[in-house]
Amino acid sequence: MKPIVYINGNYVAAEDAKISVFDRGFLFADSVYEVIPVYHGQVYFAEKHLARLESSLASARIPMPQLDWMTLFQELITRNNAPDLQIYLQITRGNQGMRKHDIPAALEPTVVAFTIHTPYPTLAEQQQGLRIQLVEDIRWLRCDIKTTALLANVLLNDDAVSVGASTALLVRDGFVTEGSTSNVFMVDHQGTVYTPPKNNLCLPGITRQLAIDLISSLNWDLREEKIARESLLQAKEVWITSTTKEIYPVTQINDITIGQGYAGDYWQQLNEKYQQLIK
Ligand code: PDD
Repeated sequence: MKPIVYINGNYVAAEDAKISVFDRGFLFADSVYEVIPVYHGQVYFAEKHLARLESSLASARIPMPQLDWMTLFQELITRNNAPDLQIYLQITRGNQGMRKHDIPAALEPTVVAFTIHTPYPTLAEQQQGLRIQLVEDIRWLRCDIKTTALLANVLLNDDAVSVGASTALLVRDGFVTEGSTSNVFMVDHQGTVYTPPKNNLCLPGITRQLAIDLISSLNWDLREEKIARESLLQAKEVWITSTTKEIYPVTQINDITIGQGYAGDYWQQLNEKYQQLIK
């Protein structure tokens, strides 16, 4: 079955989905995006993703297109015919017909959406855990905006992958901010769970918030506080969270084994709760 892409009101074959070279998304990465999970043919956590989209658009000073998002998502799922996938949605400031930095008045945003078919992790994969590399966070100071300007994330991820790790965890001024495509949690040896606070240094991840809500329901001690690099390396458990990775244990950071070197008990309990959410 051929992939079908939504572009500005039309559903077209992927090879026919084209935008102008003068689209500001192409020229300036003047654009924001969302990645939304689909399980068993159903969109999950859509309201949370749309609320974050609205916030990213407001920060980027791009007007929110008034579309029936749920119908659009459902149509894409049907046309791309796969039960478990992700919806990628990108909104650019639009096609200006030339290259000029100034934000033009009354430009129609470009809306593109398609399905991504990244398999969700299996329990066996998650139990094994990930090897992660710490790298210096060189990004700008508005990491809370889910923008497609991801060159720094791409390079930092590559720094990690090129030394054999799965992905990068980012460190700014000695504190861990997030992953290059995920948020981060750790559990210390007293059983307290930490995740960096929501601010301009990290994306307000939807999976992060879902994990926080589940942790609260478990009555665990949770602190949204800065995590020093050294604390992370001594943690009992470390996890990263994202739409595609869900809640994924980290069992090695650089050359250091985390905890026992496989998924820990806290993760096990939390993951059971998360799996119930998406059942
Ligand atoms: N990335 N931080 C960064 C820098 C991210 O790129 C992502 C997600 C997250 C986690 O956000 P959420 O839980 O809402 O997926 C945190 C997506 C999946 C991507 O770029 O493919």
